[in-house]
Amino acid sequence: MLKTRIAVLVSGGGTNLQALLDAQSRGEIPSGEIVLVVSNNEDAYALTRASNAGVKTAVVSRKVHGEQFEAVLLETLQQAEIDLIILAGFMCILSKEFTTSFADRIINVHPSLIPSFCGKGFYGLRVHEAALEYGVKVTGATVHYVNEIPDGGAIILQKAVEIQEGDTPQILQKRVMKQAEWKLLPKAAEMVSKKLLLGE
Ligand code: GAR
Repeated sequence: MLKTRIAVLVSGGGTNLQALLDAQSRGEIPSGEIVLVVSNNEDAYALTRASNAGVKTAVVSRKVHGEQFEAVLLETLQQAEIDLIILAGFMCILSKEFTTSFADRIINVHPSLIPSFCGKGFYGLRVHEAALEYGVKVTGATVHYVNEIPDGGAIILQKAVEIQEGDTPQILQKRVMKQAEWKLLPKAAEMVSKKLLLGE
C-alpha cells in the first residue's frame, strides 16, 4: 500500500475535517490520503467541506439505518478499503464489536486534557462548560486511539491551552480548536498513517 486510506467521520461543522484537508493539501500528511468522509447527519456542513475538496461522502445514520447503523457503517468503510478511521467531531459512541474490528485503526480528537472532562456525556461545548464550571486554569485537547470505553483508548498527542479571564464556553472552544485540535489532529493523522504503512 502506497498511502494509508483514511476515512473521516463527522457530525457537524467539520472544522477539524477542514484542518485535515488543509494539512493534506499542504503536503503534511504524506503517508495518508483522505478518501472518504462519512456523516451520521445529512445536514452536517462537514459534508460540504468534503465535497468542496473533491472527497467522496456518505451518510450513515441511526435515524435511517436503526439497529443496522454500525453494520452499514462497517460495510461502507470496508467497501472503500479504509485503513484508518479518524473521528473528527463524530458524536456517536461505537460498540466494542465495531472498535475491535478496527483495533488500533481508529483515532479521535477530544477537546480536553484526558482524563479530565471526558467520557459519556462530555462532547462539544459541554466539555468547555464543565472545564469553566470546575474552574481549571489550563485545559487543552487530546488525540487518542478509540476502544469501547468512551475517550478511554491510549493517548497519542496532547496540548495544553490556557483559560483566560472572561472566557465563555464558545470563546474557550474556539481557542482550544485553534491552538490545539487543528494542529494535533493532522499531526496524529500522519503519525498513525505512517505507522500503519510501515506495518508497526
Ligand atoms: C470539536 O471540538 C471536537 O473535539 C469535539 O467536537 C467538536 C467538533 O467540531 N468532539 C467531541 O467532543 C468528541 N467527544 P468540528 O465539527 O468543527 O470539528
